[in-house]
Amino acid sequence: MPISKKNIFSNVKNIEQSIFKDEQVFYPDFTPENIFSRDAQIKELSFSLKPLISNKKANNFLIYGPPGTGKTLTSRFVLEELINYSLKVKYLYVNCIQDNTRFSVFSRIVSFFGGIMPRRGLAVDEIWQRIKELFTKSSFSPVIILDEIDKLKKEDLSVLLYDLSRFSNNNKYFTLILITNNKSFILDLDSRTQSSLFLKDLEFKKYSSQDLKLILKERVEYGLIGNAISEDLIGYIAGYAAIREGDARIAIDLLYKAAKQSEREGNLMISKEVLLSVSNLIDSIKLNEKIASLSKEEFKFLKILKQDQTTTEAYSSLKEIAQRTKSRYLLKFEKLGFISLSPVKEGKGNVRKISLNFNLELL
Ligand SMILES: Nc1ncnc2c1ncn2[C@@H]1O[C@H](COP(=O)(O)OP(=O)(O)OP(=O)(O)O)[C@@H](O)[C@H]1O
Ligand SMILES: [Mg+2]
Repeated sequence: MPISKKNIFSNVKNIEQSIFKDEQVFYPDFTPENIFSRDAQIKELSFSLKPLISNKKANNFLIYGPPGTGKTLTSRFVLEELINYSLKVKYLYVNCIQDNTRFSVFSRIVSFFGGIMPRRGLAVDEIWQRIKELFTKSSFSPVIILDEIDKLKKEDLSVLLYDLSRFSNNNKYFTLILITNNKSFILDLDSRTQSSLFLKDLEFKKYSSQDLKLILKERVEYGLIGNAISEDLIGYIAGYAAIREGDARIAIDLLYKAAKQSEREGNLMISKEVLLSVSNLIDSIKLNEKIASLSKEEFKFLKILKQDQTTTEAYSSLKEIAQRTKSRYLLKFEKLGFISLSPVKEGKGNVRKISLNFNLELL
């Protein structure tokens, strides 16, 4: 290459500097130093699990709440604290998206007790037998966290939970912590399992913009260099995530993507423009994912909706589709968050006003 030609790296701004102090702070498995706004849940869990330290029985839990509200983080934190405090307790964390059958959950429990799964295939009932033997020989109280429990195969759910909740030896039991977004999975359990589980509910509500600000500030402090983002823009991110189900993951993700984009542009500070363009991009990707789930006819109907029109007006278009069907579509659009329906003045029966929650130009 001729010497006179400029090296492609020579024009890159701030090439030796990074906006990140520690990028791992933004990775999904990062454990923050503080868990904000979850004092009540931490207290409730630790109070109820305390009896395990003196070899007594503890409650089983059903932890529920929308995505990104700290359910996994908080449960693991409390259990880590507990096992560091007392050798009498050990816990196993199982994510039922990965281990979604009774067989694979049981295999994990065997290894948890230090048992070895034989190479030859064992029937699931033989594994359960093996677990009972290992349990009897063990010297600690086992706590099993079953995260995303609603992802467990339906036909395995009741049997698994029934076995685990009924078994005891020498006054020792399995303590179960079930985590889900969707509390109604309980309805899939047969009634004898429901009653033998004796679950204590623990709700994780969505975060407010104030909560999200605290969460973000810690990530900013540990993850980014000084002055990388202004207080105002942290507020913008918190507000953005607060109206999207109060999901901390959305907040952290937006901050991370905005920092990445700024760095790509050679900046050591996140500007308002970058933040807005990254958040619009995230919105349009999400919108496209949702649109991909619609049928052709649904999409056609969605496209002709107008801001503030009434349901009656919407029904009068696309005559080839039955009104009943269109009414069903509107409910689906509302559920997907495309539109909001609000009652029109009293005395107008079922007529409602349609507000569009998406940018028509993005369609
Ligand atoms: N109170 C908090 N303080 C600090 N970080 C938090 C807090 N709550 C959640 N986070 C962070 O937000 C992300 C999502 O949290 P977590 O995985 O615990 O949510 P979840 O309720 O289990 O969500 P899902 O239902 O989708 O599994 C993680 O990166 C976690 O570290
Ligand atoms: Mg989780």
